[in-house]
Amino acid sequence: MSEHDQNLPAESHGSSVVNLADGHVEGTGQLPARFENPGFPPHVHRHGDDDEAAARRSERQVAGLFGMSMLATVAFAVAYFAIDDNEVVSLPMIGETNALHVALGVSLGLSLLGIGLGAVHWAKTLMSDEEIVEERHVLRSDDEARQGALEVVDYGAETSQIKRRPLIKYSLGGALGLFAVPLGLQLVGSLGPLPHNDLSTTLWSTRIGQRDGKGGKKRRLMRDPEGTAIRLSDVTLGSVFHVLPEGINETKEPLNEKVKASVILVRLEESLIKSQRQRDWGVDGVVAYSKICTHVGCPVGLYEQQTHHLLCPCHQSTFDMTEDCKVIFGPAKRPLPQLKISVDTEGYLQADQGFAEPVGPSFWERG
Ligand code: FES
Repeated sequence: MSEHDQNLPAESHGSSVVNLADGHVEGTGQLPARFENPGFPPHVHRHGDDDEAAARRSERQVAGLFGMSMLATVAFAVAYFAIDDNEVVSLPMIGETNALHVALGVSLGLSLLGIGLGAVHWAKTLMSDEEIVEERHVLRSDDEARQGALEVVDYGAETSQIKRRPLIKYSLGGALGLFAVPLGLQLVGSLGPLPHNDLSTTLWSTRIGQRDGKGGKKRRLMRDPEGTAIRLSDVTLGSVFHVLPEGINETKEPLNEKVKASVILVRLEESLIKSQRQRDWGVDGVVAYSKICTHVGCPVGLYEQQTHHLLCPCHQSTFDMTEDCKVIFGPAKRPLPQLKISVDTEGYLQADQGFAEPVGPSFWERG
């Protein structure tokens, strides 16, 4: 049809509604303006509609697919705990890949596939496939409409045969219910390990080679970054040492340990030290303090030799080393914790125990 014909008024094609099969308007050969609604094609019955044995077969197939989903979900949960996350598997066309990821992906995929295929097969073989015309109407919420909606729901439940086929009802319930397990596992499992007391202790609290919290050798104070031990005689008046615990590089997460266990070591005139405990926890005026600022955790690395003040470069909190590192300026609210040290038989400085309080931000002092 030409563009000119499309723009012609309906009367020019004939105003009456014609059947699709009647084709062109008699006499002109043009298409009519409107066609009669041809309606739905006649409904073709499926096997299961007339044959109860075929319907039962479909029911078992649907339940089998939901069952497959349940097995795959259980496999997911087992794999989550049973497979080491460092284990590697070799797959054709992919090569070496993480075994746990493969197992979780395949089992979760099968679990979802089982539910999906079961639902599709159920809809195609057992649910009613008769097309229904719903008359359009103005949106309304009167009692009649509500009643109608309930009837539709009832009708849907009836024609899907879920009421008459408990096997499908329960297997679908089981498959969907179990499908929540992987989601919950991911949520809880991905939170990572519990911190226990990791946040309030440092490597200084442990000894080298100790077993079950007993025995072992005290950790020496080691230069950062050289990793060499420090003799008492190395620490002269006015010198500053940045210190890490001996054996820090053998720990599982050295960087995490470092951000908690960093220490600054200086020698003061003993007569300047105001607190007896501070004197007792040092050796001949050599004192060690946590280097982690109690404001928000920056390393407090600036030592003023004349004033014996320690400065944090982030927000200028200032700590007085002669008075147990109390805060004399800035936003920090808590003194830097002191590390109790002594000298071992070979003359090297060692830590007697961990810090008496958590290092870092004053968060620990809240409520
Ligand atoms: S982190 Fe040290 S003053 Fe803010």
